[in-house]
Amino acid sequence: MSKYFHPGPLLRSAYYGNRWRLKQLLGIKDKPHTDVLSSGMSSAVARYRRICQTLLNNLPDREFMRKAVVSEIGCGDCLAAADMMLALGAKHVHLVEFIPMIVREQHREALESLIADESLPNRGDVLADGDPPRLNADQVTFHEGLLENVRLPEPVDFLYSFDVLEHVEDLDGFFAYCGEVVRPGGLMMHKFDLSGHGQFEDPMPPLDFQTMPRWLYECAFPKYNRAVGNFADQFLASMKKHGFIDLNIIPIRVAEERYLDEVWPHLRTEAHRRDKQTVALLDLVVTAKKA
Ligand SMILES: C[S@@+](CC[C@H](N)C(=O)[O-])C[C@H]1O[C@@H](n2cnc3c(N)ncnc32)[C@H](O)[C@@H]1O
Repeated sequence: MSKYFHPGPLLRSAYYGNRWRLKQLLGIKDKPHTDVLSSGMSSAVARYRRICQTLLNNLPDREFMRKAVVSEIGCGDCLAAADMMLALGAKHVHLVEFIPMIVREQHREALESLIADESLPNRGDVLADGDPPRLNADQVTFHEGLLENVRLPEPVDFLYSFDVLEHVEDLDGFFAYCGEVVRPGGLMMHKFDLSGHGQFEDPMPPLDFQTMPRWLYECAFPKYNRAVGNFADQFLASMKKHGFIDLNIIPIRVAEERYLDEVWPHLRTEAHRRDKQTVALLDLVVTAKKA
């Protein structure tokens, strides 16, 4: 057995994955959960700050945001990025998320830390004044569902996501709708993470999960409850297919050359149809323009 195959983490993933699969089959609904906020205020603020800073540093054009209609896909429980887009001048933000959004006092508390951070433009506009905390309905609308199934009420100038694309099962449906809803000349920005998730994330080397044959991965990791395991070129091809041009690929993290050379012979067949540079892309931002 190669050192890149990890039976313990695989068995644990298969247990949790198939328990989830069974609950779905039996129609037992998962409780809505607020992943990031439930991990504690300081780690939530740290994550929200990282999201805002990454998006801000890689925005193709800040001026573009003035009066823009914006859409964030897969916000999870994060309202910080939408708040930042409003502070940059966006007219309206449409949040699209599969998990219901439960706005709570901790959102306000987390936003206060970001408002106090001088490196960020946040002003707290995403929430309405008063109690209980709720979204500022004049400027923010929440749409519950997968993007590929949702229909937004208006074309958008700027669409973005953070750590979402790696979870999208229907990539073609996702980008087909992006191509429809982003207006011609509009922009798109996605930050996504193609390294291992869950039991297979740091400190495990980032591509070890890609040594599993696909059938085994499919058994352990059920659809809609996993990182899909796509390679970077699959996202780019789908964006181009649906009318996006001027793709700018900004690597944030790449696999070390030595590790990649060592793991390469053990990677699943599909990896070998790609070049090493593509497979090495672990964490990246892609910006694109609608033709
Ligand atoms: C890893 S979480 C990231 C949440 C948040 N962006 C953050 O970075 O904290 C990925 C989120 O994307 C959502 N998601 C995945 N696929 C989606 C899709 N096709 N449309 C809308 N949301 C999606 C999931 O429900 C999940 O909340």
